[in-house]
Amino acid sequence: MENRSLVTIAEHSKEKILYMIEMAKQFEARPNRRLLEGKVVATLFFEPSTRTRLSFETAANRLGARVIGFSDPKATSSSKGETLKDTIKMVSNYADIIVMRHHLEGAARYASEVTTVPIVNAGDGANQHPSQTMLDLYSIYKTQGTLENLNIFLVGDLKYGRTVHSLLMAMRHFNPTFHFIAPDELRMPEEYKIYCRDHGIKYVEHTDFTEETIADADILYMTRVQRERFTDLMEYERVKNVYILRNKMLEHTRPNLCILHPLPRVNEIAYDVDDNPKAYYFQQAQNGLYAREAILCDVLGITLDEVKA
Ligand code: CP
Repeated sequence: MENRSLVTIAEHSKEKILYMIEMAKQFEARPNRRLLEGKVVATLFFEPSTRTRLSFETAANRLGARVIGFSDPKATSSSKGETLKDTIKMVSNYADIIVMRHHLEGAARYASEVTTVPIVNAGDGANQHPSQTMLDLYSIYKTQGTLENLNIFLVGDLKYGRTVHSLLMAMRHFNPTFHFIAPDELRMPEEYKIYCRDHGIKYVEHTDFTEETIADADILYMTRVQRERFTDLMEYERVKNVYILRNKMLEHTRPNLCILHPLPRVNEIAYDVDDNPKAYYFQQAQNGLYAREAILCDVLGITLDEVKA
């Protein structure tokens, strides 16, 4: 049987991405649908989360499914030494789909290989965060009216930020121009720059983050410096406040500019930006509910026609 796991967004074609956006749009119009009645969704969070876990669980509830799972691995038998493989095999006995966040890169792929129950990658280390990307794409589409030919500025921790890694892979279908703004220590990893070159994605690298640098941006995607991924905390201290977006920097930006952030924010967006109409990060998080309803349905074999019915 086909394994419908969502491990990386790179597996989605352009048609599939647009199909998922249409499905999310349907759920935004009508979020409460009992399309997954009788299903059990397991949410296994080996790493902290607010938005991803709660929006997946809300999505499951609004679709009529039941939810089991954990948000603190210390309260599970993994703290007694149970392997990830055994945990996944056990939970596969109970649930129809497993949504998993794990600190190890590749953990979601591995989990998808040890079970026939579909796995949704809710973030694996610094690697990928495909459900975040679906809500990012939906947010970009809603605010710009298109995904095509956009100038997308990614700012901050491009080394450890899994959301920016997933986003650039998904955007390969839509002729973007990326601007990577990061200090030397947190530059976009070479493997993703190779990916861009191999897929004809244009990119420019910057270390300056000024009003002038962002003047042509359609999307300004801010990221948090990910303290938990640093092995050298002195290095974290050096870079943690390197870029802060302030309201006055937005005066001469494009009228269509949309400011995104996967959240949580620490201090990379000043609070005076929140009231600027270009700030979209809280609506972006809300879009996560609709995008994740679409993902749960799609992975469990519910079609767009069924969602529209
Ligand atoms: N954007 C995101 O993944 O947020 P959480 O870590 O709160 O789930």
